[in-house]
Amino acid sequence: LSSIRVDIADVAVGSQITVKWLGKPVFIRRRTAEEIEQARADNTADNLIDAFARNDNRDAALSADDQNRAMDETGEWLVMMGVCTHLGCVPLGDGAGEFGGWYCPCHGSHYDTSGRIRKGPAPENLPVPVAEFVDETTIKLG
Ligand code: FES
Repeated sequence: LSSIRVDIADVAVGSQITVKWLGKPVFIRRRTAEEIEQARADNTADNLIDAFARNDNRDAALSADDQNRAMDETGEWLVMMGVCTHLGCVPLGDGAGEFGGWYCPCHGSHYDTSGRIRKGPAPENLPVPVAEFVDETTIKLG
């Protein structure tokens, strides 16, 4: 009952869709090679604020490495709750903010291309909800 299926066939590389799930926005982004490369290069950045992956599909102790947050091994698909971990506003996407990912205009939190908090008052990375591929063009949330 609480799960939904999302058709991602029409999501182009370098774009994202927002769907509503359990009353909250969920971002589904199909990342470019550059976004993935940047996210992975930044695994070792010294300004990562939250050290954990925050991925409900994986072990809670896993590090915030991009590989632990993306849906698939290539890293093309990134699925996250569109809820700022500061006070719950909906961040802007499509390369917003100083780190080319998402930016929350409420109090100025900057998230990188992996959805990790890099600057501002938000304490945690944007959480990855329970999600899986049902087939090549369908993602099930929940
Ligand atoms: Fe996003 Fe405060 S709610 S920065």
